Amino acid sequence: MSISASEFDYVRRLVLDQSAIVLEDDKHYLVESRLLPLARREGFDSIASLVAWLGPRKFDGLQRKVVEAMTTNETSFFRDFHPFEALRKSILPELMTKRAYAKELNFWSAACSSGQEPYSLAMVLQEYFPSLADWSVRIVATELSADMLARAREGLYSQLEVNRGLPAMLLVKHFRQRGTDWQIREDLRRRVEFQILNLAEAWPLLPPMDIVLMRNVLIYFGLDTKKKILGRVRQLLKPDGFLFLGGAETTFNLDDAFERVQFDRTICYRVRKA
Ligand SMILES: C[S@@+](CC[C@H](N)C(=O)[O-])C[C@H]1O[C@@H](n2cnc3c(N)ncnc32)[C@H](O)[C@@H]1O
Repeated sequence: MSISASEFDYVRRLVLDQSAIVLEDDKHYLVESRLLPLARREGFDSIASLVAWLGPRKFDGLQRKVVEAMTTNETSFFRDFHPFEALRKSILPELMTKRAYAKELNFWSAACSSGQEPYSLAMVLQEYFPSLADWSVRIVATELSADMLARAREGLYSQLEVNRGLPAMLLVKHFRQRGTDWQIREDLRRRVEFQILNLAEAWPLLPPMDIVLMRNVLIYFGLDTKKKILGRVRQLLKPDGFLFLGGAETTFNLDDAFERVQFDRTICYRVRKA
C-alpha cells in the first residue's frame, strides 16, 4: 500500500511549513513507515484516507501529530562523549573564572528530543562543579515535539536507553528505579527548564547564552533556514560563548562570522572577534 505522489507532496508541504524539515524526493518509505502506524492508531485504514481527511482542514491536533511523527528523535546520554569532556575539562573551568564575579551561566539545549542531552549537562555540572551551587545557572531545553518534551520532563527512561552512554555511577546516583525503567531524580529534573520552541519560528525571550548545544537538528533543514537559525544563535551567544553542533554539521559556508575552535577531539564554534 504505497503512498501516491500527491499524498507525499501534501505531507512534505505540511512538514516543511510547520517545522522547516525538508523531506527529500527519496523519503517516500520514511513517510509510509512513520505515518501508517499513526493513521491506524487514529482510526484510518490507510495513509490515503488520513491525508484525504486532513486535506481541507486547518492546522490542528492531527496535523501536529503528522509533523511530530516525521521528526527523528534519536539521542542518547552523553552523545558523542567528547563535547561533554571539552565542557568539563576546558570550557567550563575557563568560563567560571571569567564569570566569577557575576556568578551566572546560561545553557541552551536546542532540539533536546527526550531530554538526555540537557540531563547529561546537568549531571556534569552537579558532579564536577559543586561550587556552582550558589550561582545562577539556567539550563533551558527546548523542542518542537510536544510528545518528546513530555517525555523529557518526565525523565523516565528504559533500561536500553540508560545503557547507552550513561556511566553506571551516574545511573545509581541520579536515577530512581521505576519497575523496569529508570527516572531521573527530582532534584536534577528541576534543574532543567523545558519549553516548546520551533527553531524555524519566532523564538521566545531567552537569556544571553554561554553555551548552546544545537546538535543534530540543522541537518534536517534547508540552506536558508540553517543560515537564519545560525544568525539568531549568533545574536544570542555571549561574545565568549560556544556553540556545539552535531558531528555532521558545521557553520562553514553558512555563517562565516563563526570560527571553529578545537578542544581535544571535539570542535565547537564561537563568534569571530571583529
Ligand atoms: C536527532 S534529534 C537531536 C537530539 C539531540 N539534540 C541530540 O543531538 O542528541 C533532533 C530533534 O530536533 C527536533 N526538531 C526538528 N525540527 C525542529 C524544529 N523546527 N524546531 C525545534 N526542534 C526541532 C526533533 O523533534 C528531534 O527531537
